[in-house]
Order: sequence, then C-alpha cells, then structure tokens
Amino acid sequence: MAGVPFDQMQGKIWLNGEFVDWADAKIHVLTHGLHYGSCVFEGERAYGGVVFKSLQHTQRLHASANTLDFKLPYSVEEIESAKAEVLRVNNFTDAYLRPFAWRGSEMMGVSAQKNRINVAIAAWQWPSYFDPEERLKGIRLDIASYCRPDPRTAPVHAKAAGLYMICTISKHAAESKGYADAMMLDWRGRVAECTGANIFFVKDGVLHTPEPDCFLNGLTRQTVIELAEARGIEVNVRAIMPEELDGFSECFITGTAAEVTPVAEIGPYHFTPGEISKTMFEDYIAAVTPVSAPQKVAAAG
Ligand SMILES: Cc1ncc(COP(=O)(O)O)c(C=O)c1O
Repeated sequence: MAGVPFDQMQGKIWLNGEFVDWADAKIHVLTHGLHYGSCVFEGERAYGGVVFKSLQHTQRLHASANTLDFKLPYSVEEIESAKAEVLRVNNFTDAYLRPFAWRGSEMMGVSAQKNRINVAIAAWQWPSYFDPEERLKGIRLDIASYCRPDPRTAPVHAKAAGLYMICTISKHAAESKGYADAMMLDWRGRVAECTGANIFFVKDGVLHTPEPDCFLNGLTRQTVIELAEARGIEVNVRAIMPEELDGFSECFITGTAAEVTPVAEIGPYHFTPGEISKTMFEDYIAAVTPVSAPQKVAAAG
C-alpha cells in the first residue's frame, strides 16, 4: 500500500448501497460536504475479520449526522451489514474501515435543506503490527497552538470533518518541528486530547484522563477505562492543567488508529513509558483480538 495514492488503490467501495470499483467512487467538485464541511465519518478497525466495537461506531456515525442536522438514509443494521460486506468483498481480515456521509450537490450555499445525503464505506488493509519494544520507546508530542473549541462554538462531540481543520494544521506544525503529533488544550486552557486520539497520564499507579466535555469521547478511551477498572487500576477523569504534566510518570494516547501508544515527551515534559502503559496496550490488543482468530469476516459490536 505504501506510496499508492488513496484514489488509485484497488478494490471495491460501497457507495450509496452499491459496490463500485475503487477508481469509480467519485463525487462532483461542487459538493456541499467539500465546500462547507458537511461530512461525518468513522475510523474503525477489523482484527481477524471482526470490526472492534462495530455497532458503537455505526451508532456514533448516526449520532454525528444527527448533530449536523441530517439523517442517514441507511439504518444502523444496514450499515452494519454493509461494513461486513465491504470486508468480505475485498477479502480483508485486518483492515481499517472508513464509513462516511456527506451532503451532495443539489444546493450550493450555507443552506442545504434539499441536498442528498450520500453514504460510502471504504476499507484498506491495515495490520496491527505489535512490537512492544518499539512502542515502549514512546512518541514525542508538541503542544498545539489551536485549542479544542467551546461546545457553544462547534459540535464538539460529533466526528465531523470540519473539526479536523485545526487538527491537520496542528499536526503539520508538530511534524515540521520533528514531533509525531500535537497535544491540544481546550478553550479553557485544560489538557484535551491529540489531533486524532485521546490522552491518559499515570501518577502513583492511578490513571488520569480529561473529562471529554469538549472533544470526542473515543471508543478506545472508553475501552481502556473499562480494562483499567477491571484490573483494579483507579481512573480519575478530571480537569487536567498543562502545568500538572510535570508530575506524571507515564503518558499514552488512545484511538482506533493509535490503539494504545505510549508518549515519551510533550513539549518540555518527559515521561517514561512503564508498566501501566504496557499493561494497557497489552490488554487492549487482547480485547480487540477475536478469541478464535483468524476468523472470516463478520461485523461484531
Ligand atoms: C479527534 C479524535 N479524538 C479521539 C479519537 C479516538 O476515538 P476512537 O477511540 O473512537 O477511535 C479520534 C479517532 O477517531 C479522533 O479523531
């Protein structure tokens, strides 16, 4: 896959209820979703043919669309079976899935009352390379200059394309300084999350993570909290100020793509990926791995 542009890959994409060849899954340049950000999406991963938390992702896609004032023309069940079909038709077992929905081309203005709602599901191969030693080195994060907005300013709980504008700018700025990603503060100056992942810290054996009151409450984040609690690790969900970063021993980020990735540095603050980060990424990998892997494709909630 490396190097092949995403519009030139091979395979089938599910587009408005039908499978089309990868190269034919096109939209017009005058598409509302492109001009006005009226697009919602999901990022999901299949492990051994089973989409982790598939149902919750599809429910979140519906909820994100509702937040943007549109309704998906396919039910949760229809999208669930379409996702399983996408894996089956493309013969994928370890893959990333990208279901998305956007307003079409019928009207081109801020008002889009009559625009068709389009839905597509693409998937590409994405094996989870699990090299504990490599991961435990930890990644380096910059501190972004953009902040996660006040919920009165933007639909912060939707996984909506428009919200990623500040993420791409922040990630580019971080990369240009040699960092892997950027941690973002929120509109009040509190620690929020990264550009595409949630964040956790460790102090004296306790996990600390920000309250997701103005950013995405990731499914991976929720899973990690459950896994930690199942092990008897205390999880303190609270407001975290950047000055506190000095006092944490470990840090890791969570997300469908990132899984559980330890962090070694955030700007001037240093962390040593340790036992809790290792335990959480091992527990997460165990949770996403189907019991009888490798299996044939099926969507599972
Ligand atoms: C901004 C942002 N925050 C958090 C997450 C983590 O969410 P999840 O764990 O559901 O993938 C993602 C990834 O979808 C994201 O894009």
